[in-house]
Amino acid sequence: MKLSLLSVLAVPAAVVAHGDHAARHIYPRQASGSSAAASPSASRSSGSAAAPPGSSTAAPVSSPPTVAFSLPSTNPTAVPLSQIVSGASASPTLGATTAYPAGASPTFLSNAPGLPDLSKVLPANYPALDKPPPTDSPQVQQWIQDVKNSGIDIPNIAPTVAGGCPANAQAAADTSRCWWTCGGCTRDTDVTTCPDKLTWGLTHDDGPAFYTPNLLQYLDQVQLKTTFFVVGSRVISYPAILQEEYMSQHQIAVHTWSHPAMTTLTNEEAIAELGWTKKVIHDVLGVTPQYWRPPYGDIDDRIRAISRAMNLTPIMWTRISATSTFDTGDFNIAGGSTSASQVLANWESIIGNATGLDTGFIVLEHDLFQQAVEIATGYILPAALANQPPLKIEPVVSCLHKPLGDAYLETNDNKTNPPVVSGSNPVTLSSGAPGSSEATGALNNNGGKNAAVSMQANVGGFMTAAGVSLVALVAGISVFL
Ligand SMILES: *[C@@H]1O[C@H](CO)[C@@H](O)[C@H](O)[C@H]1NC(C)=O
Ligand SMILES: *[C@@H]1O[C@H](CO)[C@@H](O)[C@H](O)[C@H]1NC(C)=O
Ligand SMILES: [Zn+2]
Repeated sequence: MKLSLLSVLAVPAAVVAHGDHAARHIYPRQASGSSAAASPSASRSSGSAAAPPGSSTAAPVSSPPTVAFSLPSTNPTAVPLSQIVSGASASPTLGATTAYPAGASPTFLSNAPGLPDLSKVLPANYPALDKPPPTDSPQVQQWIQDVKNSGIDIPNIAPTVAGGCPANAQAAADTSRCWWTCGGCTRDTDVTTCPDKLTWGLTHDDGPAFYTPNLLQYLDQVQLKTTFFVVGSRVISYPAILQEEYMSQHQIAVHTWSHPAMTTLTNEEAIAELGWTKKVIHDVLGVTPQYWRPPYGDIDDRIRAISRAMNLTPIMWTRISATSTFDTGDFNIAGGSTSASQVLANWESIIGNATGLDTGFIVLEHDLFQQAVEIATGYILPAALANQPPLKIEPVVSCLHKPLGDAYLETNDNKTNPPVVSGSNPVTLSSGAPGSSEATGALNNNGGKNAAVSMQANVGGFMTAAGVSLVALVAGISVFL
């Protein structure tokens, strides 16, 4: 990255929420009656009229507490923190800034096909948005057959029920299924960090969305590339923005069609979620992603095997203990359960912890809502660029020392990212008998290298909280998208 460019944007500052008068004061958690007085943001968040696109319609019950933080730099044009709140009035958005003609060539990738004609991508040819796609369609039946033909054994693990760890005590206690949600278990086949110290594999989830172009413009200004984990339903809503992400040389990866907790699905439903998202991305870009991120990080050995059979490698975010993940919490500003200052304090902790790791790291961030984009472009990314020691910030595929072409089936030369699917030993696909806890075929062959399984604390309630908030928020705004 170019430091000359950065200096225009990087102004050293010790920033505190509502810095005018609240210098380094930590507001204690308020009783709801007094929170409005303690937090200037509350008055803005309540009075706003119609909810703008990209923000939540759900009013916070009480204003989330404001906390102190300190950043090495912020963007002088940042939206003030007092305006990055639930129910904020709509900021201007750029919209897709470039309309690419059909056939435009992604010259930065060898062997990439020209861009498809967006007028041929008709929503009527895809499943309903934000709903689990039906499994009886010819397309899904074909993908199910492809999974059977892959030769990859899908372990016979029962789907979980909604409600996360508390609602699934037996599954949560069953270490053999390696369920990330309850204890943070990972396999060697999951990407959980970047290998090199002080390297940040940048990611943004849940778009493309109304404010994504503002993020793209900032990333261009500071010459950063990210990994976008895109939701198939949002690709239907914003295909031109997806093309712009791709043509700007960001990595595009799968984040499912309707954003479910994947372990709650049957095999067939999981295949439909991944298959449709791969397909719509291919239809809009001409290339098919080889990486994905499970919504809420909800993956176990059954979902691992299904995604592997569909040539998708999972990318998680870094987890440093059973209860501590590198999650900025940026998603929750729009819904009112987190304050912008809390997100920045989270970022400060993340960067502090990351500096002590022997490896690099991956952090959870989002571009679905205006608030998350504003906190990234105004605060988190400028701070990261000014961090001492310096960070290397790049898409996950790059931090893994792979060329961008390895991110897509059509441009992968199979040298550094060989395909996993052999197609030689067709298998039977079992859906998992209720109550079954039998686990893991091929993926368990790690030769005792299951150290990650030892983190087995039960992170109670995590799924419930995350699941409810996303579904509620997406449902609340889908009329605008
Ligand atoms: C990082 O370290 C701080 C202590 O400095 C701790 O409070 C925090 O929970 C840690 N975890 C994460 C994910 O930031
Ligand atoms: C890479 O492997 C895939 C899957 O087997 C195959 O379709 C593709 O043609 C291969 N690409 C090259 C350049 O060999
Ligand atoms: Zn998500």
